[in-house]
Amino acid sequence: MRIIAIMNHKGGVGKTTTTLNLGHALAAAGKKVTLIDMDPQGHLTISCGNSANKEPGLDQLLMQQTTTENIVRDVKPKLSLISAGPKLAEFEQQKGDSSLALRLRNGIKEYAQGQDFVLIDCPPSSGLLVINSLFAATEVLVPVTGDYLALLGLSRLLGIFKHIEKAMQHSLPLQFVLTRFDGRRKLARGIRTKMLTHFPGQVLATFIRESVALAESPGFQKSIFEYQPRGHGAEDYKALAQDLIKKRMMKNEQ
Ligand SMILES: Nc1ncnc2c1ncn2[C@@H]1O[C@H](COP(=O)(O)OP(=O)(O)OP(=O)(O)O)[C@@H](O)[C@H]1O
Ligand SMILES: [Mg+2]
Repeated sequence: MRIIAIMNHKGGVGKTTTTLNLGHALAAAGKKVTLIDMDPQGHLTISCGNSANKEPGLDQLLMQQTTTENIVRDVKPKLSLISAGPKLAEFEQQKGDSSLALRLRNGIKEYAQGQDFVLIDCPPSSGLLVINSLFAATEVLVPVTGDYLALLGLSRLLGIFKHIEKAMQHSLPLQFVLTRFDGRRKLARGIRTKMLTHFPGQVLATFIRESVALAESPGFQKSIFEYQPRGHGAEDYKALAQDLIKKRMMKNEQ
């Protein structure tokens, strides 16, 4: 059982796109997968076909008003979703003792035992929802885009991460995936080299190419495998799922 928090406080780097399509690819590879929408924007919930995000979901679980079994729903064989729910932003504002940070971990503990992968789509922030995600996770996946500002944001992200690791009193394996990547651009290639230098053995082997179909598919409430099963996007996320299963990392000479 692996619980992976897909995290980056920077917005628009592909967290939700990666959670959705990696989840579909892992399920197609025979793994039992649950996706958790930890973002009050509810983009993952909407992308999975629940267009309004009005039904109770994770919000109720975190406020201890229900159990995981009551809110988890099937998306397709082997793939389930815990939707965000309309009151998730309210939970983020709560003040209380440190046990608030453990609500997700405690809420999904037993349920997660029956899954191969639980993927948590984090919001672009570093508040209580992200802290809950990290306390529940067994590992972290950070999507990084091939632009200069992405690298600047990484040092802040590492700072947040170290701070939370200290509070948790244990370390979490950290890995990266390059997203929205145009390997023909010199800047993107430079960023790949820098990532491999700073994080050797921590960047997943496949990079996700920039793809129009990946940008279009959420508008049709479809994963890339339903929207354009033979394009780059489907090929890349299928390969990324295998990287994750086999822990295949990018090598310097690539
Ligand atoms: N590889 C890609 N090629 C083209 N467009 C992409 C790709 N990955 C994501 N996008 C598009 O970029 C936008 C941001 O992606 P996404 O919503 O997955 O990012 P996010 O990190 O979850 O954002 P937020 O921080 O707001 O939650 C979306 O419109 C998405 O469709
Ligand atoms: Mg998102």
